[in-house]
Amino acid sequence: VSLEVNKSGGNASSPLMYGFMFEDINHSGDGGIYGQMLQNNGLQGTTPNLTAWGSVGDSTIAIDYDNPLTTAIPNSLRLDVAKDTTGTVGVTNAGYWGIPVDGSEHQTYFWIKGDLSGNITASLVGNGTGTVYGSTSIPITSTSDNFTYVDASLSTSKAPDGDVYFQLSLDGSEVAGASLYFGLVQLFPTTYKKRYNGLQPRIANVLEAVGASFLRFPGGNNIEGEYLDNRWKWNETIGPVQDRPGRWGTWGYYNTDGLGLDEYFYWCEDMGLEPLLAIWDGFALESGAGTPVTGDALTPYIDDALNELEYVLGDSSTTYGAMRAANGRTEPWKVTMVEIGNEDHLGGGCATYAERFTAFYDAIHAKYPDLTLIASTNEVSCLPSTMPTGAMVDYHDYNTPDGLVDQFDYFDNIDRNSSYLVGEYAQNNVDYPIMQGSVGEAIFMIGMERNSDLIKMASYAPLLQLVNSTQWTPNLIPFTQSPDEVIETTSYYVQQMFSVNLGDTVKEVSSDSAFGPVYWVASSGSGSNYYVKLANYGSDTQDLSVTIDGLTTAKLTVVGDDDPNAANTPDGTPVVPVHSDLKSSNGTFTFTMPAWSVAVLAAS
Ligand code: AHR
Repeated sequence: VSLEVNKSGGNASSPLMYGFMFEDINHSGDGGIYGQMLQNNGLQGTTPNLTAWGSVGDSTIAIDYDNPLTTAIPNSLRLDVAKDTTGTVGVTNAGYWGIPVDGSEHQTYFWIKGDLSGNITASLVGNGTGTVYGSTSIPITSTSDNFTYVDASLSTSKAPDGDVYFQLSLDGSEVAGASLYFGLVQLFPTTYKKRYNGLQPRIANVLEAVGASFLRFPGGNNIEGEYLDNRWKWNETIGPVQDRPGRWGTWGYYNTDGLGLDEYFYWCEDMGLEPLLAIWDGFALESGAGTPVTGDALTPYIDDALNELEYVLGDSSTTYGAMRAANGRTEPWKVTMVEIGNEDHLGGGCATYAERFTAFYDAIHAKYPDLTLIASTNEVSCLPSTMPTGAMVDYHDYNTPDGLVDQFDYFDNIDRNSSYLVGEYAQNNVDYPIMQGSVGEAIFMIGMERNSDLIKMASYAPLLQLVNSTQWTPNLIPFTQSPDEVIETTSYYVQQMFSVNLGDTVKEVSSDSAFGPVYWVASSGSGSNYYVKLANYGSDTQDLSVTIDGLTTAKLTVVGDDDPNAANTPDGTPVVPVHSDLKSSNGTFTFTMPAWSVAVLAAS
């Protein structure tokens, strides 16, 4: 295949092209990127249980309903110590199917109530082996009158795997026959960018290396809730964590909301991502149980969204801006994009979406005319007959590898009066991304980038997966609780290669062949940088010649495998990108693309 990139002209492309979509699914938040590592640490929910908790020595544990830490954390963990005991007693927490002790300084925070004047040892211990990866003795003086706050750090050594539990223990003779109450026990490693209540660095670092441009949050289905009452409520995710009640998440487990609205914005700032905030729009997944909300009944929810936006964007003189400042953030967050709902073409949302979208749009636009507002679907039948100027639409596509290839020209044929977010896309029907699917995704992305005057943003989904608790496959980055086991899948490499090699102008390319099995898109960036993205969807190698007049050197990155089913998984990571340096002959670079491969030629 011979290609020649036309250096003149071209279409301006979007600087936000490749981003992330995040919601708490597959324990991607609690147990995943959110730094707090103890499961069920607040004994929250309408039917609290003792999941993950255990006792040590001659003691037992129970949920205590009579010693609330706060209104939001109404239950505490009671440790009943046997009379006359002299051994070590305490509580343990198994984490989210283990704890990834990464060797950093760890921090534990908890509240304790009960008469104690002595030491509590916080430690991280290997299951079965008893190996101690970190331990600290904390002097405590507490009484039965009130909860006493405890904050302590533990130096750790890196554990070889995630088979580790956390323990708070003490000399039983000091509390024999008595009870102690523990409230909201927390454990963090040194977080990403050392932020308080921050992110797991092992996952955040892998994300940062993608070079993505935006973060769409907090859902996905998880913003919608199953029912009206368990929708994602922004105002219950802010402020001190002990004042956050959490909620039953859409994906079948309780969300602590420790990773809340402000934490998402810190994540964006710390990783250089533009926030794309989704707001709840009157529709929960189980329609009929209180939603869709329409007519006058929608007004309180529109007001709530306006309050949320004031919290985000208002200065400290506003009611909600002052609340944000009181929570530690004086400066407003930099938000320019808001999505109204999620996938409102599904589950009975379509019939009322035009009304709901318009009501939210009008109210938000009147107050914040500079915000870009995005409809959660591109299905014309669900949208107002005339979309407001400047509003965007969101298109989702989970598909087979062949289906993604078939979608290559989808964006060549769309309504060119709209601009698009492709808020979710990925291969489907596999446990982990496979090479063939990743090539299919690359071809779909090439189709988007060729049209990136209209396709402003695209985010792979879902993003993260704790393999011990999975509701959806495949995901871009699966991980276990082994500290180093954050898997860079074949699709991860494609996202990274496309993100870090983003030009600002899409260039015309002339070729001696039609698209298929090789697909391409070229762009130019600052200076004399050119990027040619290529995908080979087939089992034959392909000889390429790419001419960019006057250019002499290039870096070629290729990811591929002869086996279309090759995948990077917790069982092995056989596929890695290969980098090489090329020199042109009179502006022509020649190289061979392996079977089932994606390549980026970055020339200058
Ligand atoms: O990404 C998983 C789910 O797929 C999202 O929550 C939802 O928006 C879509 O149906």
